[in-house]
Amino acid sequence: MIKLGVNIDHVATIRQARRGREPDPIWAAGLAEMAGADGITVHLREDRRHIQDRDVRLLRETVRTRLNLEMCVAREIVAIALEVRPDMATLVPERRQEVTTEGGLDVAGQVKRIRDVTRQLQKVGAQVSLFIDPVPEQVKAAAEAGADFVEFHTGRYADAQGEAEIEHELGKLYESSEMALDLGLRVNAGHGITYWNVAPLVRMAGLEEFNIGHSIISRAVMVGLSAAVAEMKKAIREAELHHGLAG
Ligand code: PXP
Repeated sequence: MIKLGVNIDHVATIRQARRGREPDPIWAAGLAEMAGADGITVHLREDRRHIQDRDVRLLRETVRTRLNLEMCVAREIVAIALEVRPDMATLVPERRQEVTTEGGLDVAGQVKRIRDVTRQLQKVGAQVSLFIDPVPEQVKAAAEAGADFVEFHTGRYADAQGEAEIEHELGKLYESSEMALDLGLRVNAGHGITYWNVAPLVRMAGLEEFNIGHSIISRAVMVGLSAAVAEMKKAIREAELHHGLAG
């Protein structure tokens, strides 16, 4: 069965909107695990726009499934990862101006650096996954870099318009996953996956895990809003009763 890693960055995004304490991604991780998540994914970005160092350290203590740390190869972030020892480290590109990770990691253009970071992380017990576009050059480079997994960037497929473009992007994902398996790499997929576009992706060769964030957290807001409003109405009503103000 294909596993589901739940990315909870957006829970932290909401918290950081007020720089307060809620909602706490630690609590969200526990709820996701209780609902069947096979792993928890967080991205500690250099600009700390959502997940904070404290979150990563606490999640290391509390996650009962597997902790997947998305990270760039900047020295400061690598040092934190080596200390935290996540179950999996997914190396991603990072640009400060981007709204979210835009493209795959250019492994081919920096094999030596990626191999070096991969080895360091593997030495502390983390499996290493490289987030790459589904193109042969990057798949080959990922194998050269000694990664355990590749996570194929599904964003172009998710953004594709019309049947022909969708089929084209799916074809690239299907072919690249075959190639990755042939080269001894294990296969994950993520980015832009929704309840509506996930189905064809299950046919990717050897696919072990989806990493999904935005769509799940967006859905959680919608399925949770009615209960949240009802609870606030109840809290107000109970306070009125308590103070003898009931009409
Ligand atoms: N995988 C990677 C490597 C990512 O960077 C992200 C976004 O943080 C995801 C998966 C999840 O993408 P989405 O939030 O679009 O589901």
